[in-house]
Amino acid sequence: MNSSEAETSQRLVIPRPDDWHVHLRDGALLNLTVADTARRFARAIVMPNLDPPVVTTAQALQYRDRILQALPRGLQFEPLMTLYLTLGTSAAELGAAKSSGKIHGVKWYPAGATTNSAHGVHDIRQCTAALTAMEELGLPLLVHGEVTDPEVDVFDRERVFIERELAPLLERHPRLRVVLEHITTRQAVEFISQAPSRVAATITVHHLLLNRNALFVGGLRPHSYCLPVLKREEHRRALVQAAIGGNPKFFLGSDSAPHARRAKESACGCAGIYSAPAAIELYAEVFAAEGALDRLEGFASQHGADFYGLPRNSDRLVLQQTPWTVPLQIGDGDAAIVPLRAGAPVQWRLVPEPASAQASPGEAGA
Ligand code: NCD
Ligand code: ZN
Repeated sequence: MNSSEAETSQRLVIPRPDDWHVHLRDGALLNLTVADTARRFARAIVMPNLDPPVVTTAQALQYRDRILQALPRGLQFEPLMTLYLTLGTSAAELGAAKSSGKIHGVKWYPAGATTNSAHGVHDIRQCTAALTAMEELGLPLLVHGEVTDPEVDVFDRERVFIERELAPLLERHPRLRVVLEHITTRQAVEFISQAPSRVAATITVHHLLLNRNALFVGGLRPHSYCLPVLKREEHRRALVQAAIGGNPKFFLGSDSAPHARRAKESACGCAGIYSAPAAIELYAEVFAAEGALDRLEGFASQHGADFYGLPRNSDRLVLQQTPWTVPLQIGDGDAAIVPLRAGAPVQWRLVPEPASAQASPGEAGA
């Protein structure tokens, strides 16, 4: 950076991004999560792993109303709802979901794979009728891609899932649209790259920033623990190459997943990383470090909308390269949450852009 850049720090203007995988939770927490996500993203695919899970269209629409009630005044945000696949998910329910116009995917949690997955489906072949209905409706299956077999090493569960479950599933259902969520391995990148265009993947910002060493820096680090668990550096590198590579099959899904500090700093700590307070800023950091800021727009603002058959956003988001520090924690006491990058600097910050400034030329460009 030369001295004139230091004075007028670099700006990045992109069409407003979307988050294609987020956990907003429910109740009082919505006031935090919805604001953090909606400040950055125009839309988000909202995960249904509440307790109890969101299994019907009626429940999804009520949850959507609660999210919109928590939306701060002045922010535009559209929650894109999902259903949680169970053995009871019927073709009729899926038809109702699709015709609501508000439900955009069905999430398959292999039972026991992650937070609130106990109601999930162990053997996906028991859902053949539902998956056939989804093929006909064009409703995507969103997949948590890890086997739950305790014999399989936890670091291999995604790779084994692709071989044992995903590849046969795609063969059995040749028209099913599938998003492999929060991919973490080189093997997932290779599989998705070679798959037909009906198959895509989301990539989180923490899997782009961190490898598994982050779990053990000077001691056990529960705030870097998520599922699928962080992997070796070679896998992080493969994810970065996929994210910046311009392939429309890869798009942004933060998997922002808050848990209370006390639930993470525990003898059996919960999986999940709260990245929403700095999500797009941290993705920008990753792309900038690779000299690939021009690719952020496709990854964050275009590929996901195209995959889901939704219009691209026309309004804009402005980021400025001015460091700021993420708070050490958000909230107090039992409710406190420790976000990603807590107490440490982030290189990019959001610029609230007044409506009148949006039309002014000259500032755009990285
Ligand atoms: C998620 C959560 O907490 O809901 N946790 C996580 O580690 N990613 C669930 C999930 O997406 O696996
Ligand atoms: Zn998730």
